Parts: sequence; structure tokens; C-alpha cells
Amino acid sequence: MILQKKDILGIKDLPVEEITIILDTAESFVEVSSREIKKVPTLRGKTIINLFYEASTRTRTSFEIAGKRLSADTINISASTSSVVKGETLIDTAKNLEAMNPDVIVIRHSASGAPHMLARMVRQSVINAGDGANEHPTQALLDLMTIRSKKGTIAGLKVAIVGDIAHSRVARSNIYGLQKMGAQVTVAGPATMMPRDIEGLGVEVRTSLEEAVSGVDVIMMLRIQTERQQQNFFPSLREYAQHYCLSRRHLDLAGPDVLVMHPGPINRGVEIAPEIADGPSSVILEQVTNGVAVRMALLYLLTGGKQ
Ligand code: CP
Repeated sequence: MILQKKDILGIKDLPVEEITIILDTAESFVEVSSREIKKVPTLRGKTIINLFYEASTRTRTSFEIAGKRLSADTINISASTSSVVKGETLIDTAKNLEAMNPDVIVIRHSASGAPHMLARMVRQSVINAGDGANEHPTQALLDLMTIRSKKGTIAGLKVAIVGDIAHSRVARSNIYGLQKMGAQVTVAGPATMMPRDIEGLGVEVRTSLEEAVSGVDVIMMLRIQTERQQQNFFPSLREYAQHYCLSRRHLDLAGPDVLVMHPGPINRGVEIAPEIADGPSSVILEQVTNGVAVRMALLYLLTGGKQ
């Protein structure tokens, strides 16, 4: 197997060489999605289970499309329509899925570490599709792919990640990934939304959006993770938007070639002005397109494919 480990659980533990292999492989799969017949026989006979304990549009759909474009059989399980509602534990669910002998299990869970536990329980490859506020490795990989394809390189770029840093698994995975690939990362947001260990991650920390975006190459806006907040971290959405909603004047501070990114779903007018989300600097929908290619690459590499 070209990847050292059987699972993709986080960017923190993924060597730079493997990130590069995944991005290169993903680029080679982009063309399949532009064909009239969007299917290759590469994973015929393989079975992928998408086990989602949290809501998802982009990640779940793109894993399903990725599997189908590679001719794998893909099965989607939502916690709300599974025996989880009858009280079945994750471990029992895992053992039962393992008994059906799939090749890859993709899991999203509200608990940090749930994919790691699953990976220890089953012999199949496990892909983390987002665990609590810990990591969202496939989002970071598609973000890295998008930046590399638009800028030609990641090394030496200045990237600002803005918003709810404390509750964002996207921020955490991107901080690891961008730094490994040689980018300089600044994070910005309300002080109440900064994790305590943020300085230890080697990033610049700002509370001013204006300061954070000045002179950067990439601005990555984050969704406010209300589902992970146990208390109010800012007085109101209106006041949050006054300080942290990305608008035209922020892009002017960054420069003409700045890329605007957002993992989605977007809160328009709160995190990002609609004209910026839909404007010429935005690569938000390219991120979604690249998500299919990255997930095709991971399914292919984890099931024994060569680069
Ligand atoms: N970016 C992302 O994870 O979106 P979904 O929650 O829709 O999968």
C-alpha cells in the first residue's frame, strides 16, 4: 500500500510526502468528472460504507459520488435511520458493519476521536469525515488541492483563517496541513472563539479581521459552529458580522489575487458578504468540485491503488 497507515484519521499524523501523493492522485482523477460517462472501473467489486452521525451535504454526497465514479458499491447510513436510534453503540455498529466485509468505512461523528476508536475496532480502512471539533482531514486536503491548483504552490503563501477557530475541525486540519506544506498561517476571530492552545500551533493570532487579511494570499472563512457551542461567544449575529463578515474593503486590504475560501455551509451576511461569496475571488464551488477528486484519490489509495 502506498500510504503507510490503513486509515486517514487526521492531517496531524499525515506525512508531507503522503499529502503530496494524495493531491497528485486527486489531480489525476479530476478529468473523470468532466467526461460524458463519469465512471471508471477502478474500484469494481469494492464496498464503501458512509456512516454519518451528523448532518452533511458536501462531504457525504462527494464520498458517495467518488465511490460511484470509481465503480465501487456505496452504502449510506444515517444515525437517524439506523439502529443507533434503538440504542446501539458505535462499537456494536462497527462490529456489525465489519461482519459485512466492506473495504472502507467513512465516518462523521460529533465526538472527537470516534473515527480513531472505530479504526482500532475494525480491520477495514476508516476515513474521518469530521470528528467533533478535532479534525476534518478530507476538507483540508481539498482546500490544499484548491490552493495549489490556483496558486501553483502552497509553500511561502500567507493564509488567514477567520472565525470560530475554537470549534472548527476545518481550522485545525488546515492549520496542520498548510504549515506542513510551507504556508504561513494567521488565525483571527473573537478572543472567546480562540482555543487555549492556539499559540502552541505555531500560528499568528489576531482579533482584528483587517489586520489578519492585510497582504495575505488566501482568506479562509469559517462557519460559526453553533451546534458545538455550550454558551454565547458573542452578543449577537449582527455584532459578529460587524467585526468579522468578509466584505469588499477586506479584499482591498489583501490584494487583487487573493483567494476567498469557505468550507460551507455559508451563513451569508454573517461570515461572508453574498457579493464576495459569489464574486471573482471566491473559489468556494471549486473547493466542492475538488472534494470529489480528493475523495476518489483516498478511496483509490486506501484500497491498494498505486499513485
Ligand atoms: N464542508 C463540509 O464538511 O460540509 P458538509 O457539512 O455539508 O459535509
